[in-house]
Amino acid sequence: MNLAENAFNYNRPDGCVRISLIRQADAYLLCVEDNGIGISPEEQERIFEPFYRIDASRQTTTGGTGLGLAIVKKVVDDHQASIGVQSTIGKGTQFSIHIAKSHLEQTS
Ligand SMILES: Nc1ncnc2c1ncn2[C@@H]1O[C@H](COP(=O)(O)OP(=O)(O)OP(=O)(O)O)[C@@H](O)[C@H]1O
Ligand SMILES: [Mg+2]
Repeated sequence: MNLAENAFNYNRPDGCVRISLIRQADAYLLCVEDNGIGISPEEQERIFEPFYRIDASRQTTTGGTGLGLAIVKKVVDDHQASIGVQSTIGKGTQFSIHIAKSHLEQTS
């Protein structure tokens, strides 16, 4: 939910959000993509820190606390999954969560 909310909140008017679940041979990939404002490489290293918000976002009325991605990262880690971000300023952002099928089989 937080990835989807972020994709809507840090977007531009008429921007798009795409959520996809991809089945690979040995893993599932959950991707949340937007074509919004983007995140610089320096900021990409910090956005998973608790309470971290990019300066421009602090001035918006989205009212976030900066905790969402820290919580997403914790949940992902607790499931032995991984999360990655790819982004280009002015073009958009893609977050992807990778979870091995073998791990799901062990926990089900
Ligand atoms: N898809 C995105 N595009 C651009 N910037 C993003 C995107 N997702 C996150 N960010 C930036 O990363 C920061 C941290 O995101 P995070 O979800 O942790 O907190 P938040 O959305 O500000 O608040 P919360 O999720 O706690 O309500 C955001 O404030 C924003 O600056
Ligand atoms: Mg958020």
